[in-house]
Amino acid sequence: MDTIVAASLLSADFTCLGDEIQKIEQAGSDWLHFDVMDGLFVNNISFGQPVLKSIRSAVKMPVDVHLMINDPIRYVADYAAAGADYITVHYEACEDVDAVLDRIHELGCKTGLALRPATEAAVLAPFIGKLDMILVMTVEPGFGGQSFNEDMLPKIAQAKQLAEESGREVRIEVDGGINAETAPLVRKYGADTLVSGSYLFKAHDLKAAVDSLK
Ligand code: DX5
Ligand code: ZN
Repeated sequence: MDTIVAASLLSADFTCLGDEIQKIEQAGSDWLHFDVMDGLFVNNISFGQPVLKSIRSAVKMPVDVHLMINDPIRYVADYAAAGADYITVHYEACEDVDAVLDRIHELGCKTGLALRPATEAAVLAPFIGKLDMILVMTVEPGFGGQSFNEDMLPKIAQAKQLAEESGREVRIEVDGGINAETAPLVRKYGADTLVSGSYLFKAHDLKAAVDSLK
């Protein structure tokens, strides 16, 4: 699978989102990663559906929504309507994972299931037939700019193995502390979809930074 770079909007300058989106698109980012936080599942509150709705027409890339919210089934229709392509929910936040994944597919979006660092890859097995993407969090979800946790490397390999055994095309995404040093590592272990926030948005040469992740 080709490597996808998903730029996380969380690290953008919020005074000029339109310009920031254009900049990352021109630099060759493949996807826009949209981090939604509810102040409950994680401590922070970020942005939500009205923001996605207003920027969507300015984004040519697929939008990858990462819902860090409790009981996400309540909101998946809103994000689908706002123009999400992928909707990723946290395993730990769902009462009925199957129901949420079915709902996302019914809405015409692709599914993703995310795991906090403490959650084992084995929990993915019952749902693999409904997954288009697995998100292995390589930091504790909640804010950008944290350091990559190397202990997550075996989990990436386990997720990749599950995906391969399923015979389905399931992307393996990683999120947290991805930069030019950690990208080759996660790719070696089987990740193909790399979320990056602070590394990209702090870079002087954004195109070189995007290229360095591939
Ligand atoms: C963290 C978010 C990430 C965040 C990554 O909870 O899910 O997407 O923006 O930021 P960096 O790349 O700075 O670790
Ligand atoms: Zn994220």
